[in-house]
Amino acid sequence: MRWAIGLMSGTSMDGVDAALLNTDGERVAEIGPFLTLPYEPAVREDLRAVLGGVGDVAGVSERVTRLHAAAVGQLLRQADMPAWRIDVVGFHGHTILHRPAQRRTWQIGDGGLLSQLVGIDVVDDFRSADVAAGGQGAPLVPVYHRARAMALEPPLAVLNVGGVANVTWIGRQDALLAFDTGPGNALIDDWMRAHTGRALDEDGRAAAGGRVHGEVVAALLRHPFFDQPPPKSLDRNDFDASLAAGLSVADGAATLAEFTARAVALGQRFLPEPPSRWLACGGGRRNPVLMAALARLLLAPVAAVEAVGWQGDALEAEAFAFLAVRRLRGLPQSLPGTTGVPWPTLGGRLHRARAAA
Ligand SMILES: Nc1ncnc2c1ncn2[C@@H]1O[C@H](COP(=O)(O)OP(=O)(O)O)[C@@H](O)[C@H]1O
Ligand SMILES: [Mg+2]
Repeated sequence: MRWAIGLMSGTSMDGVDAALLNTDGERVAEIGPFLTLPYEPAVREDLRAVLGGVGDVAGVSERVTRLHAAAVGQLLRQADMPAWRIDVVGFHGHTILHRPAQRRTWQIGDGGLLSQLVGIDVVDDFRSADVAAGGQGAPLVPVYHRARAMALEPPLAVLNVGGVANVTWIGRQDALLAFDTGPGNALIDDWMRAHTGRALDEDGRAAAGGRVHGEVVAALLRHPFFDQPPPKSLDRNDFDASLAAGLSVADGAATLAEFTARAVALGQRFLPEPPSRWLACGGGRRNPVLMAALARLLLAPVAAVEAVGWQGDALEAEAFAFLAVRRLRGLPQSLPGTTGVPWPTLGGRLHRARAAA
């Protein structure tokens, strides 16, 4: 077993998540503290400005790397652990471009610099190898979901509602199928930002006072993505909320939340066997309007992952700690059932904090 730190900067651009894990990349022995280092509004603007791979990518990449180093320092203090006890940091970075069909995916963040700043070996660039082999490069968390779900009764579905939403279906005999279902919070966040200046619809308050415009939901659902069988993945900006233009703030928030839930529900037809339950993680599980829509539309009960003792904000960061250890051990991180890659694939680039003695 090794101690590993996982770092995630999600497409929501809300901050750096950092988690500490004791694992061999197959099982999880212990879960340490977790923290989120929220991004200042200026950092969010920096990130937004380089989405697509334009502008001062190198400058933003360095700034973001330094914030990740700060998150590592803070986590170590919280855990009361010295850096030398940590075997590896799994550094996802921030996705600024995701175009698997063109075999391109781009996460900014400099693993070499991070390893020097924190004095710990770092694994970064988790997605390129998968995409180069013909996979979607996403989602990568499913093997971690499966490891955590070992104690639970299959089949079940884990739904992560981040900026983009993705599902992991776990069947009997370790069967795994995963794909992006559609937008997660990104459209709601963009809507709120454009119309109120706030970063999110906190606790779904705007949506709760709004009315769903069915014709807008229907138009959004006409996107060919929803008929495409998995594997499939999305870029944060593959959908845009302009179809909701003209609605009131509340109606727009309600309509986009409904669309997000309907997109998840449409994903059900691709699951090999109906799950007996849905477990929701990611920030979207805090939006009660979204959760109520999911409860209404899904064919099995849905609850936040806290119902089974998991921490819904920490799972993705924990997953990148787990995946970094798999990289050290040479265990695949993506599978035909998770990213559509033709064979089990090992990704990630290792940056040594110092040369071997
Ligand atoms: N209290 C809340 N009410 C509604 N939405 C929330 C709340 N807390 C978080 N969120 C949503 O979750 C998002 C962050 O989720 P997260 O899982 O961190 O996504 P990502 O992995 O893309 O960063 C926020 O942008 C917001 O849309
Ligand atoms: Mg986040």
